[in-house]
Amino acid sequence: MIKTFSAETDILKRAAASRAVEEIQNGMVVGLGTGSTVTFALEGMAKRIGDGLDMVGIPSSEKTADIARHLGIPLTDFDTYPHIDLTIDGADQVERPTLNLIKGLGGSLLREKIVAAASKRMIVIVDSNKMVERLGSRTPLPVEIVPFGWQATCEKLERLGFKPDLRTIDDIPFVTDEGNYIADCGVAEIADASALEKQIVSIVGVVETGLFISVASMIVIGDINGVEIIRR
Ligand code: A5P
Repeated sequence: MIKTFSAETDILKRAAASRAVEEIQNGMVVGLGTGSTVTFALEGMAKRIGDGLDMVGIPSSEKTADIARHLGIPLTDFDTYPHIDLTIDGADQVERPTLNLIKGLGGSLLREKIVAAASKRMIVIVDSNKMVERLGSRTPLPVEIVPFGWQATCEKLERLGFKPDLRTIDDIPFVTDEGNYIADCGVAEIADASALEKQIVSIVGVVETGLFISVASMIVIGDINGVEIIRR
């Protein structure tokens, strides 16, 4: 049962990814997000490059960089290109009325946000299960924090009403590509994401949150009835 569901979800993710890759034009610098949906987009880019597309990618994680290299996607960096034409990335939740996002379950939220912020456009690719009317409750909100004093930082997050849980792998703290930890914050539905974002980043020790407010320009949703596009 689970395998079938996952295979069906993968079809939806691939459909969204393929549609987004059509938006890449010759000569573009493309921000490469992170996650399973993005991996489908990377495959689509590799195919288009094989057909003659001229593009370079700036990866948002070491994992994405590895996959892109393996697929033969040419990579570059901010030294060479401080501005990105288009970023394609996934999300954990997309709020339909606002297009605000929760990201970071894959562990790359800080680099993803830097890449998105440097981009003229950000296309978010999701399967329809990720669409919500209001952010929160369904998945935790990942918050990237400095390792030093993480216990004190988590206590402050708790005082904001969260249930922070330090992300671990085999009982060892998960470390991001930037050398930080992640506190996965259990949260109820978020009434005012913008206000909450400001409160969280004002805590000493917090580096960045998984709330992406007013960043996405277009959402491409893979659904059993076809691909839906929402533009900002
Ligand atoms: C990575 O840190 C995340 O922001 C991902 O973009 C997000 O978790 C979506 O991942 P999947 O495409 O694997 O669901």
